Amino acid sequence: MLILAFSVYNSDLRWRVPEPVVRRRLDYETDDYVCWSSVRVMETVDLLVHSAAQLCTIPPQAGGPQRGMALGEPGLIADGAVAIAAGRVVAVGASRELASEYRASREIDARGKVVIPGFVDPHTHLVWMGDRAAEFEQRIAGATYIEIMAAGGGIMSTVRATREATVAELVAAMRPRLDRMLAHGATTVEVKTGYGLETEAELRQLEAIVALDRSHPATLVPTFLGAHAVPVGYKGRADAYVDLLVHEMLPAVVEKSRALGLERLPFCDVFCESGAFDLAQSRRILEAARALGFPLKIHVDEFTALGGARLAVELGATSADHLVTTPPEDIAALGASDTVAVSLPCTPFGLGHCEYTPARALLEAGAALALATDCNPGTAWNESMPFVLALACRYLRLTPAQALVAATLNAACALGLGDRVGSLAPGYAGDLLIVDVPDYRHLGYRFGANPVAIVVKGGKVVAANGQVMDA
Ligand code: NIG
Ligand code: FE
Repeated sequence: MLILAFSVYNSDLRWRVPEPVVRRRLDYETDDYVCWSSVRVMETVDLLVHSAAQLCTIPPQAGGPQRGMALGEPGLIADGAVAIAAGRVVAVGASRELASEYRASREIDARGKVVIPGFVDPHTHLVWMGDRAAEFEQRIAGATYIEIMAAGGGIMSTVRATREATVAELVAAMRPRLDRMLAHGATTVEVKTGYGLETEAELRQLEAIVALDRSHPATLVPTFLGAHAVPVGYKGRADAYVDLLVHEMLPAVVEKSRALGLERLPFCDVFCESGAFDLAQSRRILEAARALGFPLKIHVDEFTALGGARLAVELGATSADHLVTTPPEDIAALGASDTVAVSLPCTPFGLGHCEYTPARALLEAGAALALATDCNPGTAWNESMPFVLALACRYLRLTPAQALVAATLNAACALGLGDRVGSLAPGYAGDLLIVDVPDYRHLGYRFGANPVAIVVKGGKVVAANGQVMDA
């Protein structure tokens, strides 16, 4: 008598040719009683990255960021593999296991290398024209950033150069910067407007960010930063500019976002700083934005502590960014909140300052800490997330594992995307990096060269050896 029993593994109930067959002879089988205990059906995936010396899956904690002192769980799998189908991670595990379960259209052997999620850069000012190299020289000679800004330079000098640019010119200026960021591993990048400071120019910058997102392999997340500086025409009348922001610009951004077909409104951000917007003005802008449905961000404590971090917590902002001069009570407020604390170590480094984000105090308070480049022409023209990790290990005293999680999962949470990017847990985007290092701790340890060998976005190779692939 022949009895055939089938059980189908790894099936989503679509019919497949059952091959190869894994036949296990059971204890009760005899020569004339044969039971096929299982027929293992190999699932077909688009990409299998295998044999990684280390795979860092970066597991979410309770579905969210790795908070406080729990930051730094890399989710290591030795000799690891990742299977990706339809742009998403299907499975992670040991290479042998995945090789027996998945047949892939494309395989990449990551032997001797480390695989991590794509970096998420949650704070950049990529849309700019003009040049500020002369300002860098002035700062080296002793002028401060705030002095240069008060004299009409700084952000306003970039505004003058950026205001008149067309959308096409803005996209053309941004594209090579974004190419370099992607080649250094940033697969999701937030980009702020903020060098227009008048309605039409701000809207052109928003349009340029959306246009570049749609024509580049990296994902861009737009932020409206009309409150980046008080424009020259409003000198001494900052409140009148706040009126313009609240009554004209914010509604215009809502309208434009609809016209551009955005799924959700951009973030609204404010530079809360002496010489920019004070606490009351920041509150007015952010409350008006919140009422219109904008998710919120805020630049706080870059130079002066004005209480912006507590405001961020009170208003339920997605993130509070910079956090250098943050006082203990504001650190405690952040630690008890869901507002992600975004540190930008390239900014003090770029300015030649010695004071950095009090990361340990934030972690001890329980905060969700993230890292970003702050890439901008004034304080920090850096397009490399690996360099951010190197700075964070030295000046924030993060371990390489902490820096890695802060630049992936926690950075995704700073964009409200912590359920879809920044981790290689099944269901997350198939955005990963094959890094040419034997141990993940080399990220942080080494600096000055690009360690990222291959960038995969949505299951497709989009950059290799520092070069972005042609679409
Ligand atoms: O995050 N602080 C405000 N914005 C940028 C600097 C922009 C500029 O100087 O052009 C920053 O550091
Ligand atoms: Fe910034």
